[in-house]
Amino acid sequence: MEYSSLELTSSEGVATLTFNRPKALNALNSVLLNELDHALDSIASDESISVLILTGAGEKAFIAGADITEIATLTPLAAKKFAQSGQAVISKLQALPIPVIAMVHGYALGGGCEMALACDFIYASEKTVFGLPEINLGIIPGFGGTQRLARLVGSGLAKEMIFTGRHITAAEAANIGLVNKVLPPEELRTGVEEVARLISTKGKASLCAAKQAVNQGLNTDLTTGLALERDAFALCLASPDAQEGTTAFLEKRKPVFKGPLHR
Ligand code: CAA
Repeated sequence: MEYSSLELTSSEGVATLTFNRPKALNALNSVLLNELDHALDSIASDESISVLILTGAGEKAFIAGADITEIATLTPLAAKKFAQSGQAVISKLQALPIPVIAMVHGYALGGGCEMALACDFIYASEKTVFGLPEINLGIIPGFGGTQRLARLVGSGLAKEMIFTGRHITAAEAANIGLVNKVLPPEELRTGVEEVARLISTKGKASLCAAKQAVNQGLNTDLTTGLALERDAFALCLASPDAQEGTTAFLEKRKPVFKGPLHR
């Protein structure tokens, strides 16, 4: 499929998906969301990809939110469908079996902040601005912000951001645990690619198992989470990666992982 609002590239196991509507600050319209849905399916089925980086085109924004020109015309029923389709594609992103890193520069507002929240972790440039400004439009976040932000940073901080619509800096975002690392703009890509490459050298089966155990465990109680972890741990032992990793350790050499994908 040819994309008009996305760019997908891949090199040595690391794919980069770029939101590409820079004139509209990469705002999420229906076309972009459909393309994202398709791109995520193709990434999930490509066994050569071990890590995905998400980013926005241009200097100003990761994503400045859902497209307000589309929101302005919605009836309540259409709004529910709109939120449902946005939530579905963002949940598909979160459920992607491989690690996903958000490389965020500039505005990450509304749906853009919600997109980053569905990634496994976020690296941001010092010039990044996060926020859920929907309250200023007379609406609330509709692509998962009320749920994922509260789970990540706690309900008090999430509610303050949602009730005030206030923009926060990358440094503030790092302080509250929304962002893992803040880098100068010119070092952001290198920093993200470095960690992506490091992750891509690990066994894909264990990466997928680890992601699944953390994500599914967060949605349940500790006892159930530990049971999920045991099952995922056991499945790793069915992969050649576990044999290679343990053998390499015992032979005092670096492991070379190339096991088939376990999902
Ligand atoms: N939707 C549609 N278009 C948008 C947009 C959005 N979310 N954000 C920016 N744009 C467009 C602007 O309309 C403008 O287009 P034109 O050049 O055609 O006029 C272009 O992008 C550049 O934006 P600005 O001129 O406004 O740039 P700025 O530097 O002055 O301000 C900004 C940047 C502070 C990010 C400002 O654009 C802004 O506040 N944008 C809206 C942010 C927002 O409210 N996001 C939440 C959207 S609702 C949502 O996301 C709901 C949900 O959860 C599903």
